[in-house]
Amino acid sequence: MIYENISLKKYNTFGLNVKADRLIPFKHEENVISFLRQQGGSEQSLFVIGQGSNLLFTGDFHGTLIHPEMEGITLEGRKDDVVIISSGAGVLWDKLVESTINNGFGGLENLSLIPGSVGAAPVQNIGAYGVEVRNTIERVRAVSLENGSVREFTNDECQFGYRSSIFKGELKGKYLITKVYFRLSTRPKLSLEYGSLREEVSKLGSVSLKNVREIVINTRKSKLPDPAILGNAGSFFKNPAVSESLAEELKKKDPQLPVFNNDSGEVKIPAGRLIELCGWKGRRIGDAGVHDRQALVLVNFGRATGKEIFDLSEKIKESVFEKFGIMLESEVEIL
Ligand code: EPU
Repeated sequence: MIYENISLKKYNTFGLNVKADRLIPFKHEENVISFLRQQGGSEQSLFVIGQGSNLLFTGDFHGTLIHPEMEGITLEGRKDDVVIISSGAGVLWDKLVESTINNGFGGLENLSLIPGSVGAAPVQNIGAYGVEVRNTIERVRAVSLENGSVREFTNDECQFGYRSSIFKGELKGKYLITKVYFRLSTRPKLSLEYGSLREEVSKLGSVSLKNVREIVINTRKSKLPDPAILGNAGSFFKNPAVSESLAEELKKKDPQLPVFNNDSGEVKIPAGRLIELCGWKGRRIGDAGVHDRQALVLVNFGRATGKEIFDLSEKIKESVFEKFGIMLESEVEIL
């Protein structure tokens, strides 16, 4: 089935009513392979769209969107406490998390309720509450958009970084992910160091996968707007990593600024706090706004255009740069 001149309102969580020339859903890997072989790399503007939960369209899309709908969650193998699970790229991320937890397999619980599909998870190495998906990815199966050949990427080959991977770097726009394999555990080491996670989970009685999931879901719901109600794409910017000396200076301006040391001797600071200190939290220009509970999230109150949301993001970048000398980088992909 090929949809032509189709509205993308349902395919982007900002709820923007832009159009694409063509959108083609694929349920099976073999069909996408034969489509790509026929194309033989002739179509220049092919783009893969999952749930559109990390995208900002600034206008109509001229080209072909491929929408992976590969289903299926499979137990591929089990040895001692390690289990290997595969999931089709079209499975909703949180359905996978829920299903693994129901089976007693740990590793994804901190990533509960993240919007989007499984196929998008490795692309930007989704992360939350002290865990990144790179910690559990065994390998990623993908198809070349240029010639339809299949390649499996090991965890190392994915070149994961903070909200990045080879699929956002060197191979950006070159592959379509069809399946992801996860290495989970029946005796997981839980990650509870983020904020008050441990304390909140303990309040529920036992420290179990289900309880971690429940607290993560509650925390997300209390801070982050539900895209079904208020259009948004989660964090709009990445948290910047700065030198220790700059972090010290910033601390002088804002003693409450939370800072997190990372492995490479740099300090990660929350962009949400910087945006808030510039007075943007809860502000609105037309229908584009800054969420009132989490300044890192830009929202569409209904009729904002992608261009208006983009312009707001640029204004925020300018004022953070003026006040702190830090240039924020978008986390959301802008098209
Ligand atoms: N903060 C403020 N003001 C704000 C927002 C945050 O002062 O308006 C402060 C908070 O008080 C807290 C710190 O910033 O001390 C961190 O806040 P939070 O725990 O909400 O996390 P974040 O750093 O703003 C990141 C991820 C989120 C993820 C959360 C929880 C990025 C770009 N974002 O946000 O991921 O859910 O941590 O782990 O790294 C996403 O990627 O779309 C996303 C939502």
